[in-house]
Amino acid sequence: MALKEVLIDELRDMYSAENQLVKALPKLAKGAKNPKLKQLFAAHLEETKGQVERLKKVFLELGEKPTGQHCNGMEGVIEEGKDALEKDEEGASFDSGLIGAALRTEHYEIAGYEACISMATTLGLAKVAKLLNSNLKEELNAAKKITAAGGPIMKQSASEPEEPKKPKTGKEKYSAKKSKEDEAKAAPDLN
Ligand SMILES: [Fe+2]
Repeated sequence: MALKEVLIDELRDMYSAENQLVKALPKLAKGAKNPKLKQLFAAHLEETKGQVERLKKVFLELGEKPTGQHCNGMEGVIEEGKDALEKDEEGASFDSGLIGAALRTEHYEIAGYEACISMATTLGLAKVAKLLNSNLKEELNAAKKITAAGGPIMKQSASEPEEPKKPKTGKEKYSAKKSKEDEAKAAPDLN
């Protein structure tokens, strides 16, 4: 498997990741309590639709089809976002969780685009690298804006009262059990 095939694989993952985000971002926009955050998520949804179109151009340039691969990584990151949306928190604390989830999706994409740009550059695919760089710039910018909007939201969240402890849901119990398993599996490897 040569580098061009690795690149096409990664790009198909990115295409799936962006399409998954087109579905997930409206949920974040709807869930956000802070109007500025809501507006940022809505604006990034429009940007994301444009990124999907740009990726189609990349595939056209490569003479390949964009479909064929599901991005499991983005599915997992979006699943974490769903957890944040299910939290029973006050306004700003709820939004702080959404910011954490949104930044994970952006940085996952940033890593993906950076890798694809390096590959395209190595292969001398200047037009592909340029298109991908436009998407990367938008992701970096989106992450920056979300972090900036997060400042005052987190400040407010810090002064909100703590929620009284509630019994764990089935999902939370499962998550706690898996976390203990992760720890137990990690420790022997360190020796
Ligand atoms: Fe994106």
